[in-house]
Amino acid sequence: MEGLARLEYRGYDSAGIALVCNDHVEVAKKAGKLANLAGELEAHPLDASSTGIGHTRWATHGGPTDANAHPHRGGDSGKLALIHNGIIENFHPLKQELLEQGVEFTSETDTEVAAQLLSRAYDEAGDLTQAMINLVNRLEGAFTLLAVDADEPGKVVAARRNSPLVIGLGEGENFLGSDVAAFIGYTKDAMEVDQDQVVTITKDSVDVVGFDGTPAQGKRFEVTWDAAQAEKGGHSSFMEKEILEQPHAIADTLLGRTDSDGALILDELNIDPERLKAIDKIIIVACGTAYYSGLTAKYAIEHWTRIQTEVELAHEFRYRDPVIGPNTLVVSMSQSGETMDTLMAVKHAKELGALTIAICNTYGATIPRESDGALYTHAGPEIAVASTKAFTSQIAACYLLGLYLSQLRGGTYADDARSIMTELSEVPAHVQTVLDGMDRVREIARFMADSRSVLFLGRHVQFPIALEGALKLKEIAYIHAEGFAAGELKHGPIALIEPGQPVFIIMPSHDTPHDLHAKVVSNIQEIRARGARTLVITEEGDEAVRPFADEVIEVPKTSMMMMPMLSIIPLQVFACELATAKGLDVDQPRNLAKSVTVE
Ligand code: G6P
Repeated sequence: MEGLARLEYRGYDSAGIALVCNDHVEVAKKAGKLANLAGELEAHPLDASSTGIGHTRWATHGGPTDANAHPHRGGDSGKLALIHNGIIENFHPLKQELLEQGVEFTSETDTEVAAQLLSRAYDEAGDLTQAMINLVNRLEGAFTLLAVDADEPGKVVAARRNSPLVIGLGEGENFLGSDVAAFIGYTKDAMEVDQDQVVTITKDSVDVVGFDGTPAQGKRFEVTWDAAQAEKGGHSSFMEKEILEQPHAIADTLLGRTDSDGALILDELNIDPERLKAIDKIIIVACGTAYYSGLTAKYAIEHWTRIQTEVELAHEFRYRDPVIGPNTLVVSMSQSGETMDTLMAVKHAKELGALTIAICNTYGATIPRESDGALYTHAGPEIAVASTKAFTSQIAACYLLGLYLSQLRGGTYADDARSIMTELSEVPAHVQTVLDGMDRVREIARFMADSRSVLFLGRHVQFPIALEGALKLKEIAYIHAEGFAAGELKHGPIALIEPGQPVFIIMPSHDTPHDLHAKVVSNIQEIRARGARTLVITEEGDEAVRPFADEVIEVPKTSMMMMPMLSIIPLQVFACELATAKGLDVDQPRNLAKSVTVE
């Protein structure tokens, strides 16, 4: 149950466990959050056991009901139980086959089909590992499966294709989890599981084989997070804690990236610098918040490297026949490193011959392992569904990559790379200053708790911040929110402005070229004249906005490219405080999951 609590952020519409107790398997499962299952177990305790499997669900096939919750039993005697992440794409014909054999189903899930098939495979093979191998060879789609059977107590058998799975190695105990957070309280000794592998664990042994049954070796690694990092530590929510952790998260991401002369070293990438020098196009692929960090980084990367940079939603990129050449670099951005849409985009890019780099926060995750190179953000575990510290760390990491490319290619900004690195290294302290002055933003958020719609305007590198600010509010406060490029306002969105409409304006810094600052000041006047309530985020000492701002939220003065990492902070705090004031669960907003491992 502790392990499930640490994984609950991945999905939380139902939960269940199965324990192998002497000669039978006991199952308890409940719709709703894990607390419901805990209540059920308190009321009806299961027999003692030291072998079991557990699951928190994010519904795909079948609604979030008790019956659809995992684990699912297989076989007439119900001595086998199975849990599943992912989607079994050919479940329909398989279910049909079982129905024709007279199997009765108790749920609408694709998982129960797998449980029933595994039970039949077990009857034939007489061995749970072999039965799992036989089963996975019939399945299409993405899955992590874990199963126990009363005939083989003390054993858990798992299989993985495209969905995440890691092994935790203990003394006299072993673990399997979707990520290391599941067992971090027990061991830091972990082992990666590759695609298309079956793992069998007992308390004393771990055996890995391929889907064809040939023995395989897992790669061991040490988990650098500790259990305390994955706990709230006195904060009202993980989101609040993670917002406050940003100075450290960014600083840790930047740590150790320069040599004694101040030149950037990104050895971690593990890619031949000559290959990188030849890059003539960059495509950043990502989803959700990570996509917005990519949009932000595009401004800096193109500016510093003069390499054409596109940013695309991973699920659109994958299926629209993108133009990729041998010198295209596809950078995937993903906190979890498990987002299926992003993973599929990376695989597609590789098939088309692109060089691939993953910017990721989770060591050992699938996306960095499938990529040619990886650059890790060191933000520590991010538990709240709404991403905050991963976002700012992703921007920092992407900036490092941009500066490194510029240094390698000797472009216009190569000489400036060091001074830009200095600016970047000052960002954590600036973020701390912003965080220290958030009382007024919290007040405004509480005051605005009843808002029905909030708009966000930004320009240049601050435009993606408007989009991300709006996303935060949608995700956790369920308020209609939209971000616009300030220049686009007059082409449509201005029609939305009516008296009292709150609008956040995220100002470009004064050093943004072409006097964009002044142009956005004009935009503020235009919406103010139509009755909008203007909340302006800008650098300190910006007197030009004051006459037209109902509220001015200041952040320290820095260069234009560094502004996004400062300006997003008040918007994160605003969303978190407003959702809290509405009495909502900010860490686990409705309908969402943190890491979406289905397409
Ligand atoms: C989901 C989450 C978002 C997140 C996105 C990308 O949609 O709800 O909060 O930004 O996935 O996640 P990733 O782990 O790839 O950064």
